[in-house]
Amino acid sequence: MTRVLKQSSVYECSIVYLSKVHNRAGNITAIENKKSIPFDIKRVYYLYDVPGGEERGGHAHYELQQFVVALSGAFDVLLDDGTNKKVVHLDRPFIGLHITTGIWRELLNFSSGSVCLVLASHKYDESDYIRDYDNFIRLVT
Ligand code: TYD
Repeated sequence: MTRVLKQSSVYECSIVYLSKVHNRAGNITAIENKKSIPFDIKRVYYLYDVPGGEERGGHAHYELQQFVVALSGAFDVLLDDGTNKKVVHLDRPFIGLHITTGIWRELLNFSSGSVCLVLASHKYDESDYIRDYDNFIRLVT
C-alpha cells in the first residue's frame, strides 16, 4: 500500500489548557473525546520509568495525531515539519500538546519519574511510522 503523508505545520500544533476541578484535597482533569481533543481517541498509552535526561520519539507519522500531557514531571517536545522547528516544554498535568499529522517529534530532557500520557487518533500501526529523518525530509519537501 502506498501511504500518503498528511503534511501540516508546527504552527498548527497547539497547546491546550484542560479544565481543572480544583479541590483542597487535590485536583481532577477530565478529557473527553472531541471536546478537549480535536480527534477521536483510539488508543491511550503512557511512558514511564524513563531515566532522567533520556530521549524518546525520533519519528513522524503519515496519519497519526497525538495529544501529549506531562502527567508528572517534565520534558521537552521538539516539533519539526521539515521547514520550521519548535520546542514545547510540558510540565503540568492540565496542559496538553496537540501534535498534528506528518510532524517529526522528539521527546527530550525527561525529568526522572516523569509520566507522559499520549492520546492517539489510531491504533498502533508500525507502517504509519517514518523513522528515518532523511526519508521524512524527502517526503515533506
Ligand atoms: P515508539 O512509538 O517508537 O516509542 P517512542 O516514540 O516513545 O520512543 O515505540 C517503541 C516500541 O513500542 C516499538 O517497538 C513499538 C512499541 N509500541 C507498541 O507496541 N504499541 C504502542 O502503542 C506504542 C506507542 C509502541
